[in-house]
Amino acid sequence: METMMNRRQFVKTAGVAAGATWLCGCEMTDFRGLSTVEAADAYSVSILGDTHFDTEPESVYHSHYDESNKWAKIQHEEFRRNGEMWRARCRELLASSARLAHEQDTRFVLQLGDIIQGDCDDVPTHKKMLDDCIKMLREPYPANLPFLTVVGNHDFRGKGAWDAYFQFAEPFMSREIGKDVKYPAFSFRLGKDLWVFCNFETKDLNPICDLIDADPEARRVFLVTHGPFTTFECGGSYRWRLGGRKDCEASRPRLYETLSRRHAVVLSGHTHTTNFYRHENRFGGFSEFTANSVWAKPELATGLPIQDKAADYGKLGISRVAPEKRKDYTRELDFFRSGLKEYFYNNGAGHYRLDVSDAAVTMAFYPGAACEPARTFRLA
Ligand SMILES: [Fe+2]
Repeated sequence: METMMNRRQFVKTAGVAAGATWLCGCEMTDFRGLSTVEAADAYSVSILGDTHFDTEPESVYHSHYDESNKWAKIQHEEFRRNGEMWRARCRELLASSARLAHEQDTRFVLQLGDIIQGDCDDVPTHKKMLDDCIKMLREPYPANLPFLTVVGNHDFRGKGAWDAYFQFAEPFMSREIGKDVKYPAFSFRLGKDLWVFCNFETKDLNPICDLIDADPEARRVFLVTHGPFTTFECGGSYRWRLGGRKDCEASRPRLYETLSRRHAVVLSGHTHTTNFYRHENRFGGFSEFTANSVWAKPELATGLPIQDKAADYGKLGISRVAPEKRKDYTRELDFFRSGLKEYFYNNGAGHYRLDVSDAAVTMAFYPGAACEPARTFRLA
């Protein structure tokens, strides 16, 4: 314990002192970027949803927090939630995910955005939060395992945080992938498969379609986005997703068609729920999986569905949307409804494993810190 505390303290201190070298994990030797190593046809990925890394007491990362923020009440509740869940539960969740990565051949770790809480309102503190977080998250996994993350809204929340995040994320991801990458969207090949990452708040979906269209030979297409593409039914912020903003309405049909023609798999987070959607339409079809690692309460370690029939898609969500928004919400649901053939939704948290092969793509859901999956979904 003494050694662990000393090490953790050292990691925190080093994060600030290292200045320009705060590209988490650079001290590792023999590291090779994901796309530079010949990939097997079949591989597995450890998946974490939103993690909202934070710690107690609040003063560690929020001593500069601007209390005049109109969301202060909600955000203080989030700091408390995060500190409590990272005290033990989320560390157990992480340990189980890492244990499976040691026991089963694993190609990389993928975290689906909102890796940190943000809300530091101070650039050095924001950088330190990112640095502490990446080091803590990757530490239990096998050494030299690439660790990928996609930008989420919390990752750049706070004063000066936008620049702080992207100054971290682009070099960090370039190194992990082994290729220079830049937001709002980028792609890389992992063996036969194309992986595309994007900033879900982008105003134009055409660059994402262009990246997919530029690689017509890829066996499988994965799109990684923090905010889901499919309209979700867990609250009034249903337009806060990839393609949900008004600016995207012109390019949204193209992305729907592009994903469908390629039988793509979309991987997302943001909603703090676990969802599976399988779409089938005149272009072909695609699937989406939303993951969640915000284990905010012990009882969220559950694989039991809230909804598990495509026919029930949206029925619960409509009651959570203000009456004046219901017409718009229904339109947003209808964009996806007719093509939805399979649906699962629960508010469970946990960790996940993606298995990719010639035959199939599956996602196993391990609620909480489980080491046995509660459910396995066939994504392709
Ligand atoms: Fe989010």
